[in-house]
Amino acid sequence: MSRKTLTYLAVLLLAAAAVAGCAQMKPTAREASLYQRLGGYDAVAAVVDDFMARMAADPQLKRFFEGADPAGLRRTRQLIVDFVCNATGGPCFYTGRSMKATHAGMGIAESDWKAAVGHLRATLAKFKVPAKEAGEVMALVGSLKKDIVESS
Ligand code: HEM
Repeated sequence: MSRKTLTYLAVLLLAAAAVAGCAQMKPTAREASLYQRLGGYDAVAAVVDDFMARMAADPQLKRFFEGADPAGLRRTRQLIVDFVCNATGGPCFYTGRSMKATHAGMGIAESDWKAAVGHLRATLAKFKVPAKEAGEVMALVGSLKKDIVESS
């Protein structure tokens, strides 16, 4: 290979590297948060309301919510909305307790969890949440299971 060809190849390689470098530096379009893709605050609140109503009406799960006064239920509902809003990337502060501390001593069993997951799935279907976003919500909630379920 002649010296000229080698120089040419070196320049070509440098140019290719520069182009690749620039391509990497280009700002990549950041995907909207799950909160945004779900439709924002009112959509999150509607999902939480529907999910809580299904849980409270379920013969298997209603024991967890009986005895709570309306103000207590409203407080819990607001805390869950704040939690989900925050956990999906929304502009909310969650001021409640950790999932472990909150649910400690309730004796939430594996079968209760299965029932709750079924209700959440039904809620997401009712609001026609697309498969991708529904999957992300289920994964998020699934990651909390170890802190919520106490017995099998
Ligand atoms: C089988 C499933 C579940 C049951 C039976 C259940 C039950 C309850 C009950 C009875 C309370 C009221 C506690 C109190 O007032 O002291 C509560 C609070 C709460 N739960 Fe759950 N829960 C379940 C799953 C979840 C999931 C999946 C989430 C998250 C998306 C969640 C988030 C919360 C939050 C944020 C609070 C309020 C925290 C606080 O009071 O500081 N729970 N839960």
